[in-house]
Amino acid sequence: MRKKIVAGNWKMNKDLVETKTLITELKNAKKTSNAEVMIAPSFTNLWTAFESLKEYGVEVIAQNMHFAENGAYTGEVSASMLNSIGINTVILGHSERRAYFNETDDLLAKKVNTALKNDMCVIFCFGEELDERKRENQENVVGNQIKNGLFHLDAAAFKHIVLAYEPVWAIGTGETASPEQAQEMHAFIRKTLADKYGQEMADSVSILYGGSVKPSNAQEIFSKPDVDGGLIGGAALNAADFMAIVNAF
Ligand code: G3P
Repeated sequence: MRKKIVAGNWKMNKDLVETKTLITELKNAKKTSNAEVMIAPSFTNLWTAFESLKEYGVEVIAQNMHFAENGAYTGEVSASMLNSIGINTVILGHSERRAYFNETDDLLAKKVNTALKNDMCVIFCFGEELDERKRENQENVVGNQIKNGLFHLDAAAFKHIVLAYEPVWAIGTGETASPEQAQEMHAFIRKTLADKYGQEMADSVSILYGGSVKPSNAQEIFSKPDVDGGLIGGAALNAADFMAIVNAF
């Protein structure tokens, strides 16, 4: 049975005080679903969040990491540094890092390798731009991102990988992909895995949807057979909204 996961990507939001406030609100919120819950605060707040939530069944995860084990990479954070503060899952390949920090498929493949070498789990993100969707080229774009970033791995490695389809045109725009669009792409993604690694492996990998998931649309999106949860941005910054999405299963 695939894991159901709702992960909150806080992006560059919440200082230390705001982080503590949101975590307290999350602790006080009622969880009624069996979804696994993760939150990704900024680096500066990871330790506080980890310490505060380690007894609460909410996994604290990182938004990024460098591919090197250590060295002269000013401003960067390594896998071992994250592990040393209890962080064992990292988001890689987010469209904002691909766009603003020129993270290529090759660089992301290196980051994936380093994360796995350090016994970390990866939420691997990908998704097409609006012009690629308008040209109906989304399957080529997404297929290449997956193949170039992950298909050097053996099937066993995918026990530590969650996929996150995030159409760039839906991120932060309020333009959510329809449940049918999400299901269509998730089915394509799962078939892409099956063609390479076989159906049994493909059926074991959780595929999350991200892009303007809100309490109002989460249940319909999550009800689709190949959607295994969500990677949530804006709505994750409000405890009530985030838990409403968690409980949408
Ligand atoms: O990583 C999740 C994020 O990109 C989605 O953002 O604000 O559209 O939920 P948002």
